[in-house]
Amino acid sequence: MKNLRDHLGTARLRHAIVLGTGLASVAGTQADDHIIPYSEIADFPSVDVSGHAGALLLRRAGELYDAYLLGRAHYYESGNAAVMKGAIGALAACEVQSLILTCAAGSTRAHLAPGAIALIEDHINLSGTHPLIGETGDRRFVPMVDAYDPALRARLKAAAQESHMAMQNGIYMWFSGPSFETPAEIRMACAMGADLVGMSTVPEVILARFFGLPVAALALVTNFAAGISGGAPTHEETKRVAAQGAQNVAHLLTAFLAQEP
Ligand code: HPA
Repeated sequence: MKNLRDHLGTARLRHAIVLGTGLASVAGTQADDHIIPYSEIADFPSVDVSGHAGALLLRRAGELYDAYLLGRAHYYESGNAAVMKGAIGALAACEVQSLILTCAAGSTRAHLAPGAIALIEDHINLSGTHPLIGETGDRRFVPMVDAYDPALRARLKAAAQESHMAMQNGIYMWFSGPSFETPAEIRMACAMGADLVGMSTVPEVILARFFGLPVAALALVTNFAAGISGGAPTHEETKRVAAQGAQNVAHLLTAFLAQEP
C-alpha cells in the first residue's frame, strides 16, 4: 500500500484539517479535488462510526495543497489511544504546516449553547490513558504549555472577526466514551474547569505536539452536556446539530484559509 508521501508525489502540503462527527460537509467539493480513501494510505486508520467518512481530500491552495481528513478514529473504537498516530505522523513527515482539528462537543456552560463554535485553548485529559504510553526516549516528555498554538489561535480569532462570527474560548475535557457522561461526571467536569466535553481531539493534540506540529482545535457545540439545562445527549442529536452547524464552521475555515499570502 502506498504511503502518504507516495500519494502526494511532488505536491507539498499547507494545512491539514480533521473534520469530526457530522462535519465532513465542511470541506464541500470542488472540481479538481483529489480524494483518497484512508484504506489506500499506509498508516491511516480505518473509520467505523456513523457520521465519519474515512477519506483524505486534497485541495489546491496556490502552490500547496490543503489536506482534509474526512473522519477520524477514536480511542473508544479499539482501546488504542494512539489510533491517529500513523496519520498525524505521516502528515508531519510530509511537512504539513499545521493541523486544525474540529470536533463536536457537549457544553457545560449556559453561554455555549448548541450551535456555538468554541476555540479550544487548553484541555484536561480525564481519560486515564495517553497516546504516548509505550514510547521510549526523551521525546515522549512532550511540553504541553501552549499546546494549542497561540499564533494559529490568533489567526482563527481574526478569521472569526473578519467573517463576523461569534467564537468563544473553551477548555475541553477528554472522556473516553463511547457512552455519554453521567450528570455527576458533568458536574465534576464543570467544577474542574471544563467548558466542553468530548471523546476525541486530546490524543490528536498530544500526538501533533509529539511530532512538533503546530495544532489548533475548534469545537462545535452540539448539545448541553448531561444534566446541564436538561441535556440528555444522543449520537443522533450530535450528528444532526453538527450537520446544521457545519456551514458556520466552513465559513470560519474559509476565512482562515484565505489569510495566507
Ligand atoms: N459528551 C461527549 N462527547 C460529545 C458530546 C457530549 O455531550 N457531544 C458531542 N460529543
